[in-house]
Amino acid sequence: MAKRPLLVGNWKMHGDGGDLAVIVAIGEAARRHPAVDVALSLPATLIDRARRVCPGLAIGGQDCHPEPSGAHTGDISAPMLREAGASLVLLGHSERRQDHHEDDALIAAKLRAARAAGLEVILCVGETAEDHAAGRSAEVVRGQLTLSLAGMNGQGIAIAYEPVWAIGGDRTPEPKEVAAMVGLIRNTVAGARVLYGGSVTPDNGEALFVDGGIDGFLVGRQSLDADAFTAILKLIDGTAR
Ligand code: PGA
Repeated sequence: MAKRPLLVGNWKMHGDGGDLAVIVAIGEAARRHPAVDVALSLPATLIDRARRVCPGLAIGGQDCHPEPSGAHTGDISAPMLREAGASLVLLGHSERRQDHHEDDALIAAKLRAARAAGLEVILCVGETAEDHAAGRSAEVVRGQLTLSLAGMNGQGIAIAYEPVWAIGGDRTPEPKEVAAMVGLIRNTVAGARVLYGGSVTPDNGEALFVDGGIDGFLVGRQSLDADAFTAILKLIDGTAR
């Protein structure tokens, strides 16, 4: 059965109070496309303000600590995100894996904490350029999934396939490569929605969505622009039916 499409924007370390109008515009677009679930993963400083200006829009965090509280300077816990107004959190993004040396065991602990706090999780997986060139993509992604899910089922979890080499540039995999990885993910995690992320634009979105066989996108740069993000939302709504 086709799943409800899901479009998530990842603002990364971008955005401040001057960008609330962008969030409002995205919230209005989401209301015009009720057949698609739309969410924005924002910097923690914007979560509460986004909830106030746009009460209907699902808001997410971008990471959480495995513990609910404690002596962890600079970190944020899953219950804190929830209390601020988040309903979901990104985990295992390649920028966290690289910049903060996060491994799958840590991501598994974060995942359990997020689910215990009632947050939906967008779990990011994907191979590096080196793994891709060596033909190890499937092996890497299967390993990331198995270790970071650590026996949890797909309940409350969406998987974002984000090849590291496709993030933040202008290269994407061929839709058939995405489809192969989506098949692997669906076989490994039954029931979870599967997203693609990495240089998604209104121009390449339709081919990736239709031929990639995905349930939606995790979008970085193009989610900072309400018009571009809305164009991606429209194409999902138009092609998902
Ligand atoms: P990008 O980022 O769309 O800017 O490539 C995607 C992501 O990192 O989630």
